[in-house]
Amino acid sequence: MITLGIETSCDETSCAILENADKTRANVISSSLHKHKVFGGVVPEIASRHSLEAIDVVYETALKEARVKPSDIDLIAVTQGPGLVGSLLVGVSFAKALSFALDKPIIGVQHLEAHLASNFILEKKPKGPYIGLIVSGGHTSIVHVCGGKIEELGSTADDAIGEAYDKTAKILGLGYPGGPVMDKLAQQGNPKAHSFTKPKIDGRYNFSFSGIKTAVLHLVCGQKMEKSAKWKGQKLNDLAASFQRTVVGWIVEKTILACEDRKVKTIVVGGGVSANSRLRADLQNECKVRGFRLYIPPLSLTTDNALMIARLGYEKFKQGKRSGWDLTADPNLKMDLVGV
Ligand code: KG4
Ligand code: ZN
Repeated sequence: MITLGIETSCDETSCAILENADKTRANVISSSLHKHKVFGGVVPEIASRHSLEAIDVVYETALKEARVKPSDIDLIAVTQGPGLVGSLLVGVSFAKALSFALDKPIIGVQHLEAHLASNFILEKKPKGPYIGLIVSGGHTSIVHVCGGKIEELGSTADDAIGEAYDKTAKILGLGYPGGPVMDKLAQQGNPKAHSFTKPKIDGRYNFSFSGIKTAVLHLVCGQKMEKSAKWKGQKLNDLAASFQRTVVGWIVEKTILACEDRKVKTIVVGGGVSANSRLRADLQNECKVRGFRLYIPPLSLTTDNALMIARLGYEKFKQGKRSGWDLTADPNLKMDLVGV
């Protein structure tokens, strides 16, 4: 079975061809990131315009790479939400037009669930329940997936983890996106150079990341905001390392807590921040010590891509699900209770 995946929820435009559940035939990604850098963050209008211009070429390239004709496609899976509405509309409209023209079924999928599903292309999906950790630029969630149902146990009260990285990096003058730069600097710094207060937050599995960003601002600018925010060299590396140790520590602690509370021994991680070196290493260590199974995507599948959309669409289609002509972009789409 050939599934075409389409992803346009933010600044990436991607089309993938997946054969059955696990054979990658193509995963083409065109990013507009370079166009946003100068603005210090993603500009929705620029992102949707880029998707509109790129989608045809990305689709044609994916078919060519996969050596697949349009008539070979059996299913079209597209990101329905959450994301930027203008960008989502490009993918959904393109997918619906193709579905109509080729007379093939279409299925809309939830982007965050798809991040978790990115793990099930190279590895077989766990049979039993698992704790899912979603860490991206827009979301931080801990979910319990059991018997085909997803229950959200906790999320962030303010900034998402990727957002905290990006905003802190901006304070430090490191450009956008800040996550990968901070991660690189952190690897050369002393993670114990600074300590940050743990936020008091309701809910056992909830997070708050806006306080640590303000703490960094006060540290580099002084309480009266008199000093310049430019820290350099080892001092900067030490700050990045301390920030990274702290936020990763909070995430790992709550993920393990959720596993222990729910008596679950499998963790599945997804989202852009799953590329973080310390998060990967610390989760691997904790899981090794406890005999837990850890699924974490290869670096190539941590950022937004259509392969994960195809994988989740395939799964849902096999469960008998599909969308109708009323399918539309939903920027606030919640995880449904279908599971992955
Ligand atoms: O999942 P994603 O590609 O887009 C959203 O759906 O949001 O995640 C992008 C986020 C950005 O905030 C970026 O700074 C962060 O992932 N990120 C990282 C790393 N690589 C990307 N954060 C920390 N460490 C990294 N190595
Ligand atoms: Zn994403």
